[in-house]
Amino acid sequence: MTITNRPRRMRQDEFSRKLMRENNLSVSHLIYPMFVMDGNRTRQDISSMPGIQRLSIDELLKDAKECFDLGIPAIAIFPVIEDSLRSVNAEECFNESGLIPKAVSALKKSIPKLGVITDIALDPYTSNGQDGLVDKDGNILNDQTVDLLVKQSLCHAKAGADIVAPSDMMDGRVGRIRQALEKNNFINTKILSYSAKYASSFYGPFREAVASSKKLGSSSKDTYQMDPANSDEALNEVKLDLDEGADMVMVKPGMPYLDILYRVKETFQKPTFVYQVSGEFAMIKAATQNGWLEEEKVILESLISFRRAGADAILTYFALEVARLMKKLN
Ligand code: PBG
Repeated sequence: MTITNRPRRMRQDEFSRKLMRENNLSVSHLIYPMFVMDGNRTRQDISSMPGIQRLSIDELLKDAKECFDLGIPAIAIFPVIEDSLRSVNAEECFNESGLIPKAVSALKKSIPKLGVITDIALDPYTSNGQDGLVDKDGNILNDQTVDLLVKQSLCHAKAGADIVAPSDMMDGRVGRIRQALEKNNFINTKILSYSAKYASSFYGPFREAVASSKKLGSSSKDTYQMDPANSDEALNEVKLDLDEGADMVMVKPGMPYLDILYRVKETFQKPTFVYQVSGEFAMIKAATQNGWLEEEKVILESLISFRRAGADAILTYFALEVARLMKKLN
């Protein structure tokens, strides 16, 4: 038999596989999400996220330093807010001496070149775990929430945050935040918008980590986060955020939404990030801990799939583990 085209020829050797490899993953594509809490010398395990912990600021600095030394460009920090500081009006979200501003200044002071991303949303601060203010009938109030998100963004920018990342999915928030940053002379503060954020059930472990699941109870975020059945709508959300002044857009979750990621990158060719969320992390961990999947290989395969689909950078709880692994392999 003579076959002119044998695609296997190029797969035959490691060198030719390397030469035709279309995508790559390096530590510079990774962003590490971290949970910060009040206190000193405290590390708390999160049962549904094996290997990930809530850290007091002093401990956060240690892990953040390791990230920086391994070449991870940026971290994203999420606060665990005490019950006594949560309220109906979420005022703690713009407290200049609150947990996040304190963590940001400590990080920028000790590791100035590590990018710091802060989450802009009310859910750590509301009594009910919703990302927005709620009226007496249970409706999420868009514009009043945006007023608070603007204050929260300015508070974080003032503390030194490099990137503010609205994850709330309120309408018009990117534009209002951008205007406020401009007016207050924070012209270099970047906005990473969670543009296509779905009302996903893969956020469960995160909500355990920040102690929001009980607050939320059986209520959903369906009136602001996107319907998992939709795809064109994601493009519309991304377009609005770019028009309003977002520097980077994000798709979230990751693996169940690779098609969205692909379309967003293809359509706009703008810096496009993806979030491999807590539930995706938990699934992989559960399987590898059981010996059902090979940990290192499965993690790397999941991450290269994001790069192949068009992601510039990836928020992943595996970032530190992968950075350590890559150092070992080099
Ligand atoms: C809060 C926020 C959530 C996540 C990031 N920011 C949870 C939510 O929207 O309920 C989820 C991240 C993850 O699951 O890893 N606005």
